Amino acid sequence: MALKSRMLMFLTLAIVLAATDGKIFERCELARTFKAAGLDGFKGYSLKEWVCTAFYESTYNSSAVNINWNGGKALSMDCGIFQINSFWWCLDAFTSVTKRNCGMACGDFLDDDLTDDIKCAKSIVTLHPGMKAWVAWSTRCNQQNMERFVAGCNV
Ligand SMILES: *[C@@H]1O[C@H](CO)[C@@H](O)[C@H](O)[C@H]1NC(C)=O
Repeated sequence: MALKSRMLMFLTLAIVLAATDGKIFERCELARTFKAAGLDGFKGYSLKEWVCTAFYESTYNSSAVNINWNGGKALSMDCGIFQINSFWWCLDAFTSVTKRNCGMACGDFLDDDLTDDIKCAKSIVTLHPGMKAWVAWSTRCNQQNMERFVAGCNV
């Protein structure tokens, strides 16, 4: 069963990745994209907090995927620039129990169009509550000097 579920998951992932046209964002390009989408100050979180979080979650790789394993069983996956989790926030083919609060397909978070990622991130920060939803924000961004994430970007 575990093997079967693992194979199914790799198949799903292979399909998702094959259909994906992701890219590595340049830091200031990402800052501008986030700003244009209204993330600067959203729920009180500044632009640099979002860029910092994206850096430590995905290193700006819009097609980043990480699977969360438990004893050979795939529990869920984290997708895209913000590593949005399939158990809580998006729809995929293999996560058996899911909250699916954004109502979007996880695979849609892997392309270079960040519109849906940002829309879901806004839901997450509103519902969770706050950016505590991202471990990277809590451990590596919050209350630390994040100026370097927007330095020189003219944002
Ligand atoms: C971006 O993520 C994808 C999916 O995990 C991976 O295949 C690719 O190598 C990554 N790109 C870089 C430059 O790390």
